[in-house]
Amino acid sequence: MSSDNMFGNNVTKNIESTLQEDRLFPPPDGFAAAANIKKTTLAELQQQAKQDYEGFWANLAHQELNWQHAFSATLDSSNAPHFRWFYDGQLNASYNCLDRHLASRGDKTAIIFEGEKGDTQQLSYRQLHTKVCQFANGLKSIGIKKGDRVVIYLPMVPEAAIAMLACARIGAIHSVVFGGFSAESLKDRIEDAGAVCVITADGGHRGGKIIELKAATDKALANGCQTINHVIVLQRSHHDVAIDTQRDIWWHTLVENQTEHCEPEWVNSEHPLFLLYTSGSTGKPKGIQHSTAGYLLNAIVTMKWVFDIKDDDIYWCTADVGWVTGHTYVTYGPLAVGSTLLMYEGAPIIPDAGRFWKICQDHKVSIFYTAPTAIRALMKQGDQHPNRYDLSSIRLLGTVGEPINPEAWMWYHTVIGKKHCPIVDTWWQTETGANMIAPVPGAMATKPGSCTLALPGIDADIVDEAGNLITAPNQGGYLVIKKPWPSMLRTIWNDDQRYIDTYWGKFEGKYYLAGDSARRDDQGYFWIMGRIDDVLNVSGHRLGTMEVESALVAHPDVAEAAVVGKPDDIKGEGIFAFVVLKGQRPENGIDDMLTQELRTWVGEQIGAIAKPDAIRYADNLPKTRSGKIMRRLLRTIAKGEKITQDTSTLENEAILEQLQGKS
Ligand code: WT7
Repeated sequence: MSSDNMFGNNVTKNIESTLQEDRLFPPPDGFAAAANIKKTTLAELQQQAKQDYEGFWANLAHQELNWQHAFSATLDSSNAPHFRWFYDGQLNASYNCLDRHLASRGDKTAIIFEGEKGDTQQLSYRQLHTKVCQFANGLKSIGIKKGDRVVIYLPMVPEAAIAMLACARIGAIHSVVFGGFSAESLKDRIEDAGAVCVITADGGHRGGKIIELKAATDKALANGCQTINHVIVLQRSHHDVAIDTQRDIWWHTLVENQTEHCEPEWVNSEHPLFLLYTSGSTGKPKGIQHSTAGYLLNAIVTMKWVFDIKDDDIYWCTADVGWVTGHTYVTYGPLAVGSTLLMYEGAPIIPDAGRFWKICQDHKVSIFYTAPTAIRALMKQGDQHPNRYDLSSIRLLGTVGEPINPEAWMWYHTVIGKKHCPIVDTWWQTETGANMIAPVPGAMATKPGSCTLALPGIDADIVDEAGNLITAPNQGGYLVIKKPWPSMLRTIWNDDQRYIDTYWGKFEGKYYLAGDSARRDDQGYFWIMGRIDDVLNVSGHRLGTMEVESALVAHPDVAEAAVVGKPDDIKGEGIFAFVVLKGQRPENGIDDMLTQELRTWVGEQIGAIAKPDAIRYADNLPKTRSGKIMRRLLRTIAKGEKITQDTSTLENEAILEQLQGKS
């Protein structure tokens, strides 16, 4: 991408949309009065963080975490950009999520679960603790130990959280793989992590179907994954699956005779709690490595600051545990603060588009956190669905994953929040571990489409190409974080150089590069404008264009492929692929049969979310004379817009007609 007007175009567009979008929503009086963080407290926190950055985080870490050995050193920058936080302390994440609550709230409900078919289950903190200990002992009994990598490939059931916490309890490093990813993606992640065990289920329920997790695991392990010794299989769908008695163990058999006591493995603050793979601008996903103490600290403080969590809240974050949101705001954050969380296994439209709202009513959900794509999809189904249910228990709404369009924001505010619930639009990333730029809802006004201001102790800013701070309002630039923060990623597993290059290369170690462009308005509010790299945001999930391209060219008929994002009403961004075949180009560049085949193929290579929405066949791709694919041009074509950019550097101008589907 050339940098000429990389930000210019978008800025103009965004300014236009905000000119009509000058609405400001102050916190409702009642909400502000009862909030964890009131206006004055927020100002104090901001002030403390500014005056004594390390002291600010050290105080919070002492206050918010239970330590086996207290730390004395706060931040170690001697080996930057490999920062260490609280590194001489020792703790255990599962202890902080479970044991420390037992005396004060052992009988409080920790997890309310609802399956797609309507089955429900509740686990108190004491019961959850018991299950985690037994499963942790089970893991130990098959030889899993501190530092081992364990892949979790489960549906959205309490056992997903139990498996994560059991790994944390014994110091094993979990790597959760989203159940919607294919066998091929699972295999790549197992191999990159060198995992010794996969925890999966016979199947999960979604969209009225059974997701064949065990079958996919078998397929992944059939040719490769040499490091795997065991597969633990949870019985969930109760349908027949193949069992390899040498390798596979049923979950219920594993825990059968395990005791309810399991001494936590005390680990150093910096001990990796988990890896989570996410897409970047190359074909290979990155294993984002998180720490124990720093990660947990930001998870906790954001639960308190942003989600205003209180002891009587019923908190529901709809994310799958396969994404970072499901780590920080389904498992670790809510449990570390001792709240009651809700987990739902299925799809939002089963049996109809009222399911989410029915769940909110039935379980008296008070805090609801979801993605703009879900809000748009449900909005489209009509107000009659939410209007059938009593949503009066809801007091706070949240969104994450992509910029929310003001129309969806207003619907969320009016139809779901009945105009009395603040909306927290939370900007963050797999890499940041927790919310970074987000409202503190009792202390400030929100604006539809803006994630508002950086949280206390988070030094977010916007810089130009040369790394100079942009101070003028509404000027787009690179979103950067200027100081290390506790829950930042520590490295990329197996590829430290990529960590250094991707996040610290552009501004020579000075700033963390988020990979997003952003601007700030005249009140300093942040407006995220989109990714600056070749990363797509499909339904709030990150997908590298290169990943999809690699999957396409792996098909025997495909010679070359280029993939771009195309704005989509529901998904945010859809996938448009341009493909050059090894054989003859189909007539008019259309071949529905082959397109179906390639979509299925990509689904098998990566997962259903990566299937291109449209494929156009051409004899060639538009390249500059130096051989670089002109993606900007392809984006314009995908949108069906008129080509206004300079095409004189194009090697073969005649190809444009084909790409536009005109010949
Ligand atoms: C990318 C991170 C963090 C959990 C979900 C996605 C985009 C995320 C927002 C928001 C505008 C957002 C950014 C970011 N993004 N939240 N509130 N407003 N954009 O995690 O897969 O690591 O993706 O999602 O582009 O860089 P992820």
